[in-house]
Amino acid sequence: MTSTVFITGATSGFGRAAAHRFAKAGWKLILCGRRQERLDTLQQELSSLTDVYTHVLDVRDSTAVNAVVEALPKDFLPITSLLNNAGLALAPQAAQNVDLSDWHTMIDTNITGLVNVTHALLPSLIETGAGASIINVGSIAGQWPYPGSHVYGASKAFVQQFSYNLRCDLLGTGVRVTDLAPGLAETEFTLVRTKGDQAASDALYEGANALSADDIAEQMFYLATLPPHVCINRLEIMPTTQAWSPFTVKRQS
Ligand SMILES: NC(=O)c1ccc[n+]([C@@H]2O[C@H](COP(=O)([O-])OP(=O)(O)OC[C@H]3O[C@@H](n4cnc5c(N)ncnc54)[C@H](OP(=O)(O)O)[C@@H]3O)[C@@H](O)[C@H]2O)c1
Repeated sequence: MTSTVFITGATSGFGRAAAHRFAKAGWKLILCGRRQERLDTLQQELSSLTDVYTHVLDVRDSTAVNAVVEALPKDFLPITSLLNNAGLALAPQAAQNVDLSDWHTMIDTNITGLVNVTHALLPSLIETGAGASIINVGSIAGQWPYPGSHVYGASKAFVQQFSYNLRCDLLGTGVRVTDLAPGLAETEFTLVRTKGDQAASDALYEGANALSADDIAEQMFYLATLPPHVCINRLEIMPTTQAWSPFTVKRQS
């Protein structure tokens, strides 16, 4: 039976690259995001390779998530792999200078959205059983603190712990769960984070030899196609050019 992957945030970055990677291997695709025109483009690009089903979806809306899942075409079911990829960072400034609404948007998307989709698709993944997988896109920010990460990093720490806790409850079902934690990767992520500041985005990536969306998509495909008895609980991946810094000390002047 052909495998099916359900990808949230398929309209850009890692999600779009993953749609191409899984299509190349013949997986059926269910692609979601808020931007209809980008979903239409993906449908046109990938339909010659595989069956593609797209649906506009804001993952923050649990009623909409449930409606999309209930209306999935039967020939795309059950789901083999869920890529919980939709997410964003906002407000790179210090916590004390951030709009509360930006914190709410990150919590609503990265936490509430991710659990909405997971809850709706668990029965289908359990029906698949051995070989099924949930790949939750966390971040190195979920493990390592840095200035301006505040709620973003905390939301990704949630993703890590939720992934581990899901593993406990899904034991015996065959469904694997991975917290995939990328470091610096060049996508539209920084453009979103800076609310459209292309110069800031370009400056961040300039000369950094950052990870590409394709690098992450390759890891997603690797995780989803491991032998069914193998589960990688957490996969942290950075560009070779990125590492940790020493602790900062604010000295009295
Ligand atoms: N790039 C990095 O350096 C990096 C590092 C670590 C982790 N990550 C994580 O990787 C994931 C993908 O990010 P990316 O780098 O590929 O960024 P991106 O290019 O900005 O893509 C983000 C995707 O999320 C979707 N999305 C955002 N809010 C949504 C919502 N409310 N409902 C549905 N879809 C939504 C966007 O689609 P629409 O706008 O069309 O809805 C878009 O397809 C995120 O979870 C991010 O936190 C990124």
